[in-house]
Amino acid sequence: MKLIIDTDPGIDDALAIAYAALHPDIELVGLTTIFGNVTTAQATRNALYLAEKMNLSIPVASGAEKPLVLPPFAPKTQVHGLEGLGHLPAPAPVGTASSLAAAEFLCKMAERYQGELVVCPIGPITNIAHALQLDTNFSQNVDKIVFMGGALDVRGNVSPYAEANAFHDPHALDFVLASGADVTMVGLDVTLQVLLDEQDFNQIASRKNPIGGFLKELGRFYLDFYKSIGLSGCGLHDPMAIIAALYPDLFTMESIPLEAITEGEASGRTCRSQSKTRTPSLVTLGCDTEAIRDTFFSIFDR
Ligand code: BDR
Ligand code: CA
Repeated sequence: MKLIIDTDPGIDDALAIAYAALHPDIELVGLTTIFGNVTTAQATRNALYLAEKMNLSIPVASGAEKPLVLPPFAPKTQVHGLEGLGHLPAPAPVGTASSLAAAEFLCKMAERYQGELVVCPIGPITNIAHALQLDTNFSQNVDKIVFMGGALDVRGNVSPYAEANAFHDPHALDFVLASGADVTMVGLDVTLQVLLDEQDFNQIASRKNPIGGFLKELGRFYLDFYKSIGLSGCGLHDPMAIIAALYPDLFTMESIPLEAITEGEASGRTCRSQSKTRTPSLVTLGCDTEAIRDTFFSIFDR
């Protein structure tokens, strides 16, 4: 599977990038970056650093600096840390970002790989909205867009209604959901069904690949945040989008026309659309938690 991850790294973003980097059936074509857990500049720096740490020689293209319609916002640091990588200080990658902006890079790669490229946005979906605006063929040129975000039949995580990625750019999400592209939503309905606790991070660190020790270090910070909100483990949010793209059979999915609320106290909520014209999206509503844990852990044996 040829894959671009659109990311705001972010601790679970780092887990998702590691999973993709190590998986023998995934060819990571590049990373594109977005604000969310951190600013876009920090996201680009962190993505370059993570790519180097994982021995990936791939382009990193920097994305939009603000949401489609909403004003820019300052990232909250309590979930992913001051620099987005838990307790770690600001990293200093040696590489630099692509001369192409994220949306341009996405369009170019989709055109090059004609129906073969999977795009996994695991932050606010702004870059994908820009790519759809930039090139009317983008939605036909990609194979599918599998995004982490939204909460259909469960509570949100930044408001009673909204999941963080959807909340931070609901206009972009609604635009993507209305675009007619082949879209799969991997939201809190499933990502909070697979929690990683301290033992799980120990297990990752004890496997063959040395990246596990680094991820355990990041996980310490993430787990402390989840403990502070009363959960014993952190959601496997971002890796589950990659897993759903590669192994859709591990999920129960329903075909549902979706929309994102863009105003008022429910802003960022994902809900069933009443529109007769909206193309349905695939929505993950259940999952095989054991099989997902198995594929996730086994990757660190490589
Ligand atoms: C999403 O929000 C971010 O904090 C995570 O990286 C993930 O993409 C979960 O709601
Ligand atoms: Ca993310």
